Amino acid sequence: MAVRRLEIGAFGGPEVIRVVEDAALPAPGPGEVRIRVEASSLVFTDMLIRRNLYPVLKLRLPLTLGYDLVGRIDGVGPGVTRWRIGDRVADLSQTGGNATHVVRPAAMLVPVPAGLAATQAEPLILSYLTAYQALFREAEAKPGDPVLIYGASGAVGLAALDLCRAFGLPAVGVASARREPAVTGLGAAFVAYDAAGASGTLDRLSREHGGFKAILDAARGEALSSVMARLAPGGRLVALGFSAAFRKAYRTGDASPGLFARLRFAFDFLRIKALSLRSGASRRVTFYDISGRRTRHPQDFEDDLSTLFSLLEAGRIAPRIQHVFGLEEAVEAHRLIEAGQVEGRLVLDLASPIGTDAERTRTGSAP
Ligand SMILES: NC(=O)c1ccc[n+]([C@@H]2O[C@H](COP(=O)([O-])OP(=O)(O)OC[C@H]3O[C@@H](n4cnc5c(N)ncnc54)[C@H](OP(=O)(O)O)[C@@H]3O)[C@@H](O)[C@H]2O)c1
Repeated sequence: MAVRRLEIGAFGGPEVIRVVEDAALPAPGPGEVRIRVEASSLVFTDMLIRRNLYPVLKLRLPLTLGYDLVGRIDGVGPGVTRWRIGDRVADLSQTGGNATHVVRPAAMLVPVPAGLAATQAEPLILSYLTAYQALFREAEAKPGDPVLIYGASGAVGLAALDLCRAFGLPAVGVASARREPAVTGLGAAFVAYDAAGASGTLDRLSREHGGFKAILDAARGEALSSVMARLAPGGRLVALGFSAAFRKAYRTGDASPGLFARLRFAFDFLRIKALSLRSGASRRVTFYDISGRRTRHPQDFEDDLSTLFSLLEAGRIAPRIQHVFGLEEAVEAHRLIEAGQVEGRLVLDLASPIGTDAERTRTGSAP
């Protein structure tokens, strides 16, 4: 049986992605398992890794893309006692998940309930867990607390709004004007960042709420001082993404993000880091990093992801999946991500029998 995976041999645009085939299955070593992957990520973060813009990971080429995965264990290495062949698991791989088979350390895998479809469960790992931990672990938000979300129509933003709806937190979402139905459809108030007077509207909403208990910033599109001023006393700004730095470059069709976007990205990242180190108890700034947090608090990762799986099973959350792609279609998916054409999530389906018509002629409406 062959392994098929999405590899990049050079950093760059979607065109550097290729589907490669390895004749032999990898063998799990001590403390490892092999996973037959069913679904994996196609997200903004995969794009940052493809362009070598991901700040917290040292990347070596060639590499297989894929920040997370859901699959079934089909090989167990020596010394592994928790898992057996056939168990369903989830993992945060950072790279490597976009493959039909992967070998992963057994220690930090999380069980996936048998009844969940892999393509529904996969968005919970990176996108929903980020939103969940930012809201409830970092900002310590409680039901009733007002929340403001920048980048509200993206994968993390819509996940955060879905969780606010599920847990009863009044939310305001900021995204571009065309995204209003997606944001209001989850019960949130909407402000278009590209509308005249958006900043004044956000100031007014902040006053009406007595300040926001939590601000999740997935976009970094507005001056930090304005964002901070909208926090309630004791509130928390959780910085987690920088998508605004790249939007303009991609929308104008730049082949590369351009020097300005790269410099702004680096500047925003360093500024948030510095602020998070200096901020006081009254209005705090935190930089959230899902992988770093998992290393420091592995039990939280398992507990929170298990909670999300339970919420999905109970029908209390519903990931917004714009389209499911097969391996051969992944370049097209990355083009949509770069063009800002994704509302919610794209998912890579690796469960269809390899090389069959089912894989090539996937169902679902084209985005
Ligand atoms: N720290 C972590 O652990 C962690 C985990 C997951 C993701 N992330 C990061 O978080 C960011 C978002 O990830 P994602 O997967 O949600 O990306 P995404 O699906 O591409 O969404 C990005 C969103 O940003 C919005 N946006 C762009 N410019 C904006 C602005 N000026 N103001 C408000 N919203 C704006 C876009 O809205 P429009 O399309 O309407 O313009 C889009 O909905 C990325 O930088 C990603 O790398 C970090």
